[in-house]
Amino acid sequence: MQSPIQVYLDDLCMRLASTHAGELANYIPELSKADPDWFGISIVTMDGVVYSTGDSEQKFTIQSISKPFVYASALADRGVDFVMGKVGVEPSGDAFNSISLNPKTGAPLNPMINAGAIATASLVQGETTEEQWERIVDSLSTFAGRPLCMDEDVYRSESETGFRNRAIAWMLKNFGIIDGEPMASLENYFRQCSLLVDCRDLAYMAATLANGGVHPITGERALPLEHVERVLSVMATCGMYDFAGSWLYEIGMPAKSGVGGGIIAVLPGRFGIGIFSPRLDSKGNSVRGIKVCQHLSRDFGLHVFSRSGEPGMALGRIYTAAEAPSKRQPSPDMRSYLNEHAHRIKYLCLHGYLAVDGVEYVIRRMIDMAADSSCFILDMHQVDGISESAARLLHDARLQLAGDNIALVFSRIHGRHAIEHPLSTTSPKADHGYLSFEDNDLAVEWCENYLLGDLARATEATVSLGDCVMLLGLPSELMALVANAVVKKRFVQGEAILTTGEAGNGHVFFIEKGYVSILVPLEDGAHQRIASIGPGMSFGEMVLLGQTTRSATVVADCDVNCWVLDAKDIDCLAHEAPMLKIILLENISRDMAGKLLRATQWIAALA
Ligand code: DON
Repeated sequence: MQSPIQVYLDDLCMRLASTHAGELANYIPELSKADPDWFGISIVTMDGVVYSTGDSEQKFTIQSISKPFVYASALADRGVDFVMGKVGVEPSGDAFNSISLNPKTGAPLNPMINAGAIATASLVQGETTEEQWERIVDSLSTFAGRPLCMDEDVYRSESETGFRNRAIAWMLKNFGIIDGEPMASLENYFRQCSLLVDCRDLAYMAATLANGGVHPITGERALPLEHVERVLSVMATCGMYDFAGSWLYEIGMPAKSGVGGGIIAVLPGRFGIGIFSPRLDSKGNSVRGIKVCQHLSRDFGLHVFSRSGEPGMALGRIYTAAEAPSKRQPSPDMRSYLNEHAHRIKYLCLHGYLAVDGVEYVIRRMIDMAADSSCFILDMHQVDGISESAARLLHDARLQLAGDNIALVFSRIHGRHAIEHPLSTTSPKADHGYLSFEDNDLAVEWCENYLLGDLARATEATVSLGDCVMLLGLPSELMALVANAVVKKRFVQGEAILTTGEAGNGHVFFIEKGYVSILVPLEDGAHQRIASIGPGMSFGEMVLLGQTTRSATVVADCDVNCWVLDAKDIDCLAHEAPMLKIILLENISRDMAGKLLRATQWIAALA
């Protein structure tokens, strides 16, 4: 099964490939040689899983996307106060190559515009510009999780034509923002812009920022934690230049674009996104890159100011129906089948507010377990809400799983609007809707039936009186006595056969055909099902142990045929044949031991 996120990305890439707006950058001549149709997207999760589509491994130059990472290195090397003394953090609202300097100090307004980035390149540690260059490459390679190298042709092309940047560098020297040889620092800036990356590299670099400065795969720390929020803040307010306001308003993720056609976006604690498409709009941002982020943000609910959950916290316990079977007491052949296959029914206990990343993790775990599963029960008891995009993703997964004959059902939503509404409004039109059960017992019984297939559909199955569990082991002559004493009764679906608290009428019921549920009343007037029994099982036998009032309600789940035996008749018969009562009581205690074992299993499973 393919992850719905992968399906979504492939589909998005295909849909947006028909967007041909925008132009290749050509003020750096080498950049105009790119194939304008190149288009790739990569997303990296906090535990390092990568989803990629399109030309995600096509190399291109990082250009301005290098700026937040060099700024990060300067903060780590020289500290906040020193760097703030040289480069501000105010959005300029101007284009990336505007000469936006503080009129008093000459300091560039922020490190995302060229002026600020050129200054920043001169601030990283190193006695010489060669050492500073080493620092810059090492740092960006740590963010990418692999050694990065330069595109010599692009570097040369920019160095030979970067007249405006040269002017800016001299201005910065003039204002004392750059201490050393400005042209040497500028060459480092041109080099950093010429580092070759692909979408995956960008997504890893973004994910490293999202992961608090630690690379999600290598585990290497690329930036001290305290600087991560500073870098993300400047990306959020200045990363998309004179489009930063609209970007944050609509898409809501710290981001950075480059004239090579790359865009990175960061969702702290959740995802890193890398996109490549070299056609640019008038502000120097990738046209398709912006569209991808608009879709991802809207469809996956990625706006940083939207409510989000803790991805890793979304999934709690996973256990199986082998540990917590339904309270139905299946017929022996169903029992033996379930003993062998019940592990294929998995309970997944979900927690907290479910956003896309939490659900992405849950789906990935289901994909990992799919080969050995027939049903997933998503227990929503501890869930306090789900985003529409996360609900849509769950439905996509449910339909894909159904394609592999794996059922996904929900339980314990209890009508809560924050869950019910998103699930019902995003349930695909063409689909027959999703199954949701009041409690895990009903959910697991449905799954057991799903697993049992024809065996479960054998609801028409009938058993003979002699096959009833409570009568097993009775010698034929005693069996004949019982057969003479029972009377046949038929109960229709929904009929209450016994009611809690009613005087025990001294009858024991043996089910020939059909199923009944045994329910106990709860404080709130509702009923909790404690068992569901079918052909060959019995109920009401507690009267044989002297019970005078009924402790549970028994309702016919479907039309039920029973043999009914009056306890008084049993006493009479037992008078003649004491072995009868002994065998009955033995079978009752064996059955109760079985129930106790299953109840302990349940408690252990829910502990
Ligand atoms: O300095 C320049 O103009 C280029 N090396 C980088 C500019 C850039 O990527 C602007 N981003 N959208």
